[in-house]
Amino acid sequence: MAQTSQPWWREGIDFGQVPHMVTDSPGPESRAMHARASGIIKGLSGQVKLHPVCFKEGFGVVLRDVDGNSYLDFSSGIYVTTLGHCHPKISGAVAKAAHTLMNAHDFTTPIKTELLEKLITILPPGVNGAQLYDSGTTAVEAALRAARAFTGKHEFISFYMDFHGKSGHSVSLAKMNKTNGASRAEGFFLAPRPDPYRPLFTRADGSLDTDAYIDFLGTFIDNATTGQVAAVVAEPIQGWAGSIVPPDDFFPKLRKLCDERGMLLIADEVLTSMGRTGKWLAMEHWDTVADISTLGKGFGNGFPVTAMVAREEIKESFEKISASTSYGGNPMACAAALASIEVIEEEGLLENAQRLERFFAARLQGMMAAHPIIGDVRVKGCLLGVELVKDRATKEPFDEAGRMVYQKAFRKGLAWIPAGHILRLSPPIIMDEEVAGKGMEILEEAIAETERELGY
Ligand SMILES: Cc1ncc(COP(=O)(O)O)c(C=O)c1O
Repeated sequence: MAQTSQPWWREGIDFGQVPHMVTDSPGPESRAMHARASGIIKGLSGQVKLHPVCFKEGFGVVLRDVDGNSYLDFSSGIYVTTLGHCHPKISGAVAKAAHTLMNAHDFTTPIKTELLEKLITILPPGVNGAQLYDSGTTAVEAALRAARAFTGKHEFISFYMDFHGKSGHSVSLAKMNKTNGASRAEGFFLAPRPDPYRPLFTRADGSLDTDAYIDFLGTFIDNATTGQVAAVVAEPIQGWAGSIVPPDDFFPKLRKLCDERGMLLIADEVLTSMGRTGKWLAMEHWDTVADISTLGKGFGNGFPVTAMVAREEIKESFEKISASTSYGGNPMACAAALASIEVIEEEGLLENAQRLERFFAARLQGMMAAHPIIGDVRVKGCLLGVELVKDRATKEPFDEAGRMVYQKAFRKGLAWIPAGHILRLSPPIIMDEEVAGKGMEILEEAIAETERELGY
């Protein structure tokens, strides 16, 4: 690709004018449009209900609403458009496929073959089996079916505060009071996992004790399950829970336990893969290879395409679980995923996400030093979490402050993701430090105003 003087996402955009608010946000047009839609759609997320803006278009890291306001996008939808909106190569590839062949069931197509061959070059050695799906939750369901088919066992262990999707078994892997009254399927168990900011198992000196979690898991398997555990399922970094990064020794030790007990390790990388944390797979941060992984969100950079991938030994058991779906692996989806992988490689975006991690980490640490309501900050690549507390000693969650900061920052032109007292930010990995710094400035202003209003 010919080198231009500036990256594609800066072309035609004057960042001196972004964000740019011409009305209050949400403005009158947004409110009117939202009133029409929300009269029909019920059950919208807190992200929307707290700030019902109506977006019209997006380009790179900029979003525009129907009132003409422009925002910096620090949400990537919901961790989806990792490479920004409407990358010319990705949009062009999807458009070309849409004009060529839209669906061919699970027949092989040239673009599917190309994607599959490319995909296995970016995965750890030996991970060379794949099936393609159309949502994160269907990829997770496929991972569970594959684990049962391979091991002949039926039980699963996942972790407190995990999120794996909204279909039956994915729901059974998660905390129940967030799953709309569904009940947990038989054979699904949840265990604690280490949260460095809020550890359950500590050593005498108060530091987190990873071994105690692993020992507990062994005891738990002996007592709570029938011993027929097919797999342990884990998000490498818990996204919905607030970008919770485990201690570095957790996954290597969990891998060892799985091997000792004959259980597979399934990494649900729907949120964390494809450069979001500065690696293709987040498990690479801990030199750990899962038996089965799920990919989603950034995999098609907005086009609904996901995958379940597995090690060589396991892929033959895919024969027992059909790869046929209506939409999985359709030509447009494969074109989006292939172009996204190529863009990450061609534009050096894993390295850019790593550079941004250093920038965000330093900036958020500085913010924490200046603002008493910040209890903890977490950064891996462009996956960010800021935990607000009423008091650093008690760590009492500060939900009111979380809501205020979310709304204030949004009104100043920062589009992002609230989660109660935890601020979750997921900026596209394409940006530079200047734009990243603008987002951080808005966030800090909103935190400072919130502190003043709440008397801190
Ligand atoms: C880790 C993880 N797994 C699975 C899912 C479900 O993905 P989808 O919403 O595409 O079904 C999500 C969605 O947020 C997720 O974060």
